[in-house]
Amino acid sequence: MPDCDGHEQDPQVPRPGLKIDLEAIDLDREGRGLARWNSWVVVVPDLLPGERARVQLQQRQKAQWLSRRLELQDISPERRASPCILAKDCGGCTLQHWQDEAQTSWKRRSLEQILQRVGALAHEPGAVLEDHDRCLGYRNRALIPLRREADGRLRMGYFRRGSHRIVNLNHCPVLDSRLDILLEPLKRDLEQSKLPADHDLQGRDGLRHLGLRVGHHTGEVLISLISSRDDLPGLQSLASRWLNRWPNVRGVTLNLQPKRSNLILGTETRILGGNPCIEERFCGLSLSLSTTTFFQVNTPQAERIVSLIRDWLTDELETGCLVDAYCGIGTISLPLAAAGFDLVGVEQNPDSIDQARHNALRNGLDDRCRFIAGDVADHLGQELSGCDALVLDPPRRGLVDRVIDAILGCPPPLLAYLSCDAATQARDLRRLVGSSGCYRIERLQPIDFFPQTSHLESLALLKRVNS
Ligand SMILES: C[S@@+](CC[C@H](N)C(=O)[O-])C[C@H]1O[C@@H](n2cnc3c(N)ncnc32)[C@H](O)[C@@H]1O
Repeated sequence: MPDCDGHEQDPQVPRPGLKIDLEAIDLDREGRGLARWNSWVVVVPDLLPGERARVQLQQRQKAQWLSRRLELQDISPERRASPCILAKDCGGCTLQHWQDEAQTSWKRRSLEQILQRVGALAHEPGAVLEDHDRCLGYRNRALIPLRREADGRLRMGYFRRGSHRIVNLNHCPVLDSRLDILLEPLKRDLEQSKLPADHDLQGRDGLRHLGLRVGHHTGEVLISLISSRDDLPGLQSLASRWLNRWPNVRGVTLNLQPKRSNLILGTETRILGGNPCIEERFCGLSLSLSTTTFFQVNTPQAERIVSLIRDWLTDELETGCLVDAYCGIGTISLPLAAAGFDLVGVEQNPDSIDQARHNALRNGLDDRCRFIAGDVADHLGQELSGCDALVLDPPRRGLVDRVIDAILGCPPPLLAYLSCDAATQARDLRRLVGSSGCYRIERLQPIDFFPQTSHLESLALLKRVNS
């Protein structure tokens, strides 16, 4: 085909605008189709493995081409109508159009491939820990962007994929139904309040996000308004209205986030009405959760993971001293203390450490638990001497070298590594298990923690083989 200068263009050389036919062989970590074409990787949104489509190349990004899907030529028998009517636009979920069983088998396959590719380790993961009855309605928390448009209408919803434009919603099927039913009336009240709202503070100061949290076992609800300013009129009367209307709403708070950053929550929270915290039962213990507390979003699956870790440790050890690194409010530590272990938790967020101590006290576990506020890299070395087992639950970036050096310098006999990023976990396991390490993988457990999305949680249980 001639280009605008009249030169012939090679149809085998990729360029923006070129239309080609291809088949997806996998998905990337954002749930987009991946295909191979003439030694290039082509990324195709909304194309499932095994499906063929005509696509148009858009732009090159390092070693891959981004494309737009045109005609779908071969449709996978695993494709389904998305349970959510906004699924095509909303960036909250990426795999709603894929049957639940297909999602979980892909997650298991991905974990195995990432472990091989990044970790150079050949280990077959166990069957995915699923919750068949709760592939929808599982989220116990939402932080939803708000913006008042020029015409006065309030938009409330998650961002369109790859943008900061809100996809307006009244329902969200992955949200716990006790929160989902609040969305529409809350939006209506906020719209009628005429309060300014702009999540990214591009236009004006004011409300930024709506925060919702429910105790899965208690049904208690906490509503939070996240705002850049504390002088918005009428917030207290909104709070009273909500507290009177819904008996399970235990508190309404105002969280202040004046910074233009991608951190949704600020450090200061004020009470607008009711209590600042809700109660939750977790593995038989009572926890109190506030607006800013980090707590696992899928409570029953988190309980299954903690039970798995606890059962493995009690089989191996019966009693002993454990270190829980990146312990948050003690979600993993406290059930392990309740099972009879002595425990040291390390966490950098001082508010979480306060809550962990408070939760230990109210569950009568404070004599078994010691919580340290600080960087794991600074404290782990000294806490590992005499430690029988180490639990790691780091953020997505995984373990820094100093943490791995500390573990290999004084390796505890047992190690449980929970991760929400298979690639960083595989990288870290390469050091812990590979030729320079001293551990063997006993079990690699994929967990479907976030159905309808491409996120994968995994738990590696390791045993020391030599020191
Ligand atoms: C994935 S969360 C796990 C929390 C907890 N284990 C739970 O299940 O609720 C990771 C935690 O690590 C904390 N964190 C991140 N970097 C840290 C560091 N360098 N040192 C200590 N804690 C850190 C975060 O504040 C967060 O609470």
